Amino acid sequence: MENIKKLHKDFNKHLSNLAVANFKLHNVHWNVAGPNFIAIHEFTEKLYDEVFENFDQVAEHQKMYEALPFVKMSEYLENATIKEINSKPFNTKEALDTVKEILDVLREDATELRNECDEAGWFSAVGMLEGHIESYNKHIWMIRQMGE
Ligand SMILES: [Fe+2]
Repeated sequence: MENIKKLHKDFNKHLSNLAVANFKLHNVHWNVAGPNFIAIHEFTEKLYDEVFENFDQVAEHQKMYEALPFVKMSEYLENATIKEINSKPFNTKEALDTVKEILDVLREDATELRNECDEAGWFSAVGMLEGHIESYNKHIWMIRQMGE
């Protein structure tokens, strides 16, 4: 249990990234403009719904193991490595690049965390994170295809 406790700090960092990702995806969702508006608007909606679901799942998983998840915007901003950007119009390329950047960080973050949990023998955390990673992989592939 001791080794699991140490991981809660990393879970809170990941939770913070998921929180900031949710808002940043809304930025692209609302502000994308151009001929691919509908496709990217709908794609980002799917993504923020999923990221929000993962955010909730990560926090509830922390609670199951008696940790306190961060709940304040100030904590998320302080601990996230994903940075906010101002509200501004995005063309197709900027929108896809921004979304890919977000997903890359979430995937990397979740993978590191998955491996740490694996080392600690924390199977339920590994299982949850593998599910998230699989879906980030799929979305990153879709973005690559859209950019071709
Ligand atoms: Fe929307």
